[in-house]
Amino acid sequence: MNTAIGLDGVVVAETALSAIDGKRGHLIYRGYWAKELALSSSLEEVAYLLWYGRLPTQAERAAFVQKWREARELPDEMQRWLMSLPRSLSMSSVLQSAIAALPDETRFDWPPTPDQALQVVAKIPTIIGVRRHALQGVPFDPPSQDWTHAQWHGWCTCGRVLPPRHVRALEAYLILTAEHGLNASTFTARVVTSTQADLPSALSAAVGALKGPLHGGAPSHVETMLEEIGEERQAESYLRSRLEKGERLMGFGHRVYKTVDPRAEALKAIAQEMAEEERWFRLALHVEREAVRLLQEYKPGRQLYANVEFYASAVLKAIGLPKEMYTPTFVSSRVIGWAAHALEQAAANRIIRPDSRYVGPMPQS
Ligand code: CMC
Repeated sequence: MNTAIGLDGVVVAETALSAIDGKRGHLIYRGYWAKELALSSSLEEVAYLLWYGRLPTQAERAAFVQKWREARELPDEMQRWLMSLPRSLSMSSVLQSAIAALPDETRFDWPPTPDQALQVVAKIPTIIGVRRHALQGVPFDPPSQDWTHAQWHGWCTCGRVLPPRHVRALEAYLILTAEHGLNASTFTARVVTSTQADLPSALSAAVGALKGPLHGGAPSHVETMLEEIGEERQAESYLRSRLEKGERLMGFGHRVYKTVDPRAEALKAIAQEMAEEERWFRLALHVEREAVRLLQEYKPGRQLYANVEFYASAVLKAIGLPKEMYTPTFVSSRVIGWAAHALEQAAANRIIRPDSRYVGPMPQS
């Protein structure tokens, strides 16, 4: 029996949600180029596409958006509970706990439905906003309820109304990261769903998988790395010393992409357009070039290039999001893909239960 460490290349599900061509750098959501959706669609339309299998008509879109706005509201008891959690909890841990603790008024019975998905997804920015305001000791008092998900997410994470071009950039980021095949967190969501556990349990477990630095925890580390490098002339010695110590460079490498991650390319173009802080973007470009060159030297043949997280950090920084909001912002988009996979898994379910090979000692007698 072969052992597939890390399940590299093992196909464990059939999906109609997204296709990734790691060699050519292609990403498709249900027959549409993700890059084109990011330019021409709203996040709500993309969620509808992923959950229902097609883009909505105008009437369906209006009804869906209205339901989404209404679902944002968090019950008072939930808001009080969020304020009572220890201050030391990271926002990702707060999200993980809060999703699992969502009151069951919606009836999160198995199997999951698109309506259940909407109830969770719409509340993610609200959970962040309530918690953030509580930590800062200011009342949670949004100036409008009519916002899109991207506007709402921007206000809840930054505490201010974002200008339209920043909202558009944030929405493009949210669309480009909403779905990406069987990455670790999505696989987690499918495994939990396959046990017939309720949807919040699957989504909460997925947040736990996402927040690790090898997955969705990477972008804040990318920013820290750029801050530590500080100036272009320091890049080579900094990166070399990390690689000499056998450390990984955050924002580089990918299990599937053996060429440039197409999401990184799209985000790079957005970051370039909006880079008010020209110096930061130039530094990012330089670090990318140096890192790819040094990775070829230290890890020949591994094909390590910038991944989505490298330029995600540049876009989120240009929008003005605080660093501690990067992973929660990733949750706010990827939860849409997790929910889509939960729906797909439930529609043709069999419990996911792989095997392991025993290599320990046998009893002596
Ligand atoms: N810096 C230095 N070396 C690396 C890196 C990196 N960023 N990524 C992979 N390698 C090396 C690794 O040390 C190994 O070398 P060797 O063959 O000598 O042991 C080789 O490349 C293959 O690595 P691997 O761990 O087998 O590759 P993987 O496909 O299992 O890992 C990865 C993929 C994304 C976890 C990895 O590339 C990594 O740790 N990158 C840094 C963290 C990061 O940027 N994460 C965000 C991922 S993209 C979006 C997402 O998943 O959320």
